[in-house]
Amino acid sequence: MIDKIEKILADIKAFQADNKEALEQFRIQYLSKKGTITELFTEFKQVAPEMRKEMGMKLNELKNTIQDIIDEQQKKFETKSEGKTDIDLSLPVYAMNGSRHPLSIVRNEINDIFKRLGFVVAEGPEVEDDFHVFSALNFPPDHPARDMQDTFFVTKSPDVVLRTHTSSVQVRVMEQGKLPIRIIAPGRVFRNEAISARAHCIFHQIEGLYIDKNVSFADLKQTLYHFVQEYFGEGTKVRFRPSYFPFTETSAEMDISCNICGGEGCNICKHTGWVEILGCGICDPNILKACNIDPEEYTGFAFGMGIERIAMLKYQINDLRLFFENDLRFLKQFENA
Ligand code: DAH
Repeated sequence: MIDKIEKILADIKAFQADNKEALEQFRIQYLSKKGTITELFTEFKQVAPEMRKEMGMKLNELKNTIQDIIDEQQKKFETKSEGKTDIDLSLPVYAMNGSRHPLSIVRNEINDIFKRLGFVVAEGPEVEDDFHVFSALNFPPDHPARDMQDTFFVTKSPDVVLRTHTSSVQVRVMEQGKLPIRIIAPGRVFRNEAISARAHCIFHQIEGLYIDKNVSFADLKQTLYHFVQEYFGEGTKVRFRPSYFPFTETSAEMDISCNICGGEGCNICKHTGWVEILGCGICDPNILKACNIDPEEYTGFAFGMGIERIAMLKYQINDLRLFFENDLRFLKQFENA
């Protein structure tokens, strides 16, 4: 029986099926119910006990070899037949039916600018706990932002809220303990505000966080200056005004020269020539400590901007509600943006 098996092994090694049918014939010959392998297994029952182990192994080897040959050659026909189909893979894709939402366009463009500077995109949950939205960010217990008028509560005690800003993602990333950090976090935020042309209860922000050794306010200024030149065009001026946020110290708000009137004064900039686009600052040492980062060794900067606001400036849109109404007459204007 061993000789028989060896002979079959030698015979099939060189087997090459010319087509699918020949391969199927091969399979039937060896592996079907009435095929050679079944016959050999029947014969195997007669084998003397001391020979069984060796014989069994040989027989299995034969069976596996045949299966391997079939699998291997099947691939050959699959790829061949794919090539023969009517589908022309070199054709351009059909034009997409629809277009990106302006907020997605703006978000992607902002992301791309920061990605080129080495920032990576981070995400965090929209339903958050008090710690990540407020406590870890140095908001005192009686801070008005925690007030019912501002925050949507999912449950009270434990406090589960809809995040009111993407700054919560700062905490999520710092907690992971991997340094340095250079992230941007785009996302949806929620505030219990009356809907008007200038405010909505759902809107979008992009957060930025950079933590490393020796990060200074100069780095913050240069990064944001670069962003503005890229996004609003070279020559756009920036100015920083002192401000206050619980999680940054020094804090600032950044204005750009009005991109609509070029600084001359118009309705959008309320005739000041400047429009505010973001809040920023040097991370307060308390924030770093809350996330187990040594503020003696590391410093960082953060910034946060509203995507709707940037989009309104970029496309001269004067009513925030347009972004949420899904009116095709509005959305179609961004088809080629
Ligand atoms: N989270 C702030 C807001 O929603 C915006 C902000 C300000 C984010 C300063 C920052 C920052 O990271 O440094 O109004």
